[in-house]
Amino acid sequence: SLPKHLEILGDHYPTDAITNVTPAILEKVPLRLHAQPSHPLSTLRGLIESHYPDFAHLSSLSPLVTPFKNFDELSFPKDHPGRAVTDSYYVNKDMMLRTHTSAHEVEVFRRGETKWLLTADVYRRDEIDGSHYPVFHQMEGARIFNADASGMEEVEENNARLSQQLARSNIVIEDIPHISPTNPVQPSHDPRYSELVALNLKLSLNTLMLKLFGGVAGASRQDPLRVRWIEAYFPFTSPSFEVEVFFQGKWLEILGCGVAGFDCEVDVPDKIGWAFGLGLERIAMILYSIPDIRLFWSLDSRFISQFEDGKITTFRPYSKYPSCFKDVSFWSPQERSLHENDFCDLVRDVAGDLVEDVQKIDDFVHPKTSRRSMCFRINYRSMDRSLSNGEVNEIQSQVVSRLTDQLGVEIR
Ligand code: PHE
Repeated sequence: SLPKHLEILGDHYPTDAITNVTPAILEKVPLRLHAQPSHPLSTLRGLIESHYPDFAHLSSLSPLVTPFKNFDELSFPKDHPGRAVTDSYYVNKDMMLRTHTSAHEVEVFRRGETKWLLTADVYRRDEIDGSHYPVFHQMEGARIFNADASGMEEVEENNARLSQQLARSNIVIEDIPHISPTNPVQPSHDPRYSELVALNLKLSLNTLMLKLFGGVAGASRQDPLRVRWIEAYFPFTSPSFEVEVFFQGKWLEILGCGVAGFDCEVDVPDKIGWAFGLGLERIAMILYSIPDIRLFWSLDSRFISQFEDGKITTFRPYSKYPSCFKDVSFWSPQERSLHENDFCDLVRDVAGDLVEDVQKIDDFVHPKTSRRSMCFRINYRSMDRSLSNGEVNEIQSQVVSRLTDQLGVEIR
């Protein structure tokens, strides 16, 4: 059933044994929500760009990259789980849909950019629920300085200005050391430079968090914005951090970042700098009170017409239509075990955005035959209208027949 070639953004690509992009995914590639005026993701992009007015603002790089660019160039090990066909979308063995905006770091630095933001759609195979969608949007930000006295003077000036701004603000920051034995400076970096750059990264992002969340999370003196820094690991930065913001009683992970590792990634000698990557949907869902990630893709005028370019407003839900649950149980094919993401992509391909949630409710291996049985519960619900029983049954029977034909399962 797989065509010999796929046409993506006007180019043709041969398919092969590892091709796993589906029509439902390829349909999203040309949409570029982050560039549609008045779309919440576009307004949020603009807001973040306005925090970095003197940075280059890039937003039109193709999502098709080589696995080399997405992984190897950033020092991801050969056996990193993100490379698996169960986790990432491959057009063929040489071309994939980027899984993160960091895939462009080396390229942009090589171009000679020293301060830049890059917004783009990224693709990851995942489960299905109200906060996961296989296509989402990230923003990468990066800045490099000369690794010498003049560069560090620039950092210190900038740090002084940002510190003053924070001192006047209603924010409580839980910090950790810039460098520690478990979050070390890179061998090629001067530790004093790395400290200053890490501080610059933290100040720059703390002020960004204040700009984004200062209004919603901590509106009063008694209720300041709380931001916390956590040690992290990324193959292409060290030290590395994650930033979380306290919102409605919970710590929410907002972004990953760190001091960039040029010795392994780019030939930009005598430079030192930082990079961060944040997911736009998660932040937009908070700022606009958007309850379901599928809404970003809605063409319903009751969604789109609510938003105005450059303005953050509270989403007014226009009713929740009833759910329809359908279960399917089957024996996994004997030759290979079926991955949950294969099931989810199949459902997504048949049902599109009519699927709200998929849960595995049973998974066992028969003690005698050692066959594996799984049961999934699919929650069908449209964001825009009531679904009829007949319509859902029709979708469910397509899911069932494709499970048999495509994935070789035996329905129970
Ligand atoms: N690319 C990382 C991710 O998607 C985030 C990141 C960006 C981390 C830049 C460090 C530096 O999780």
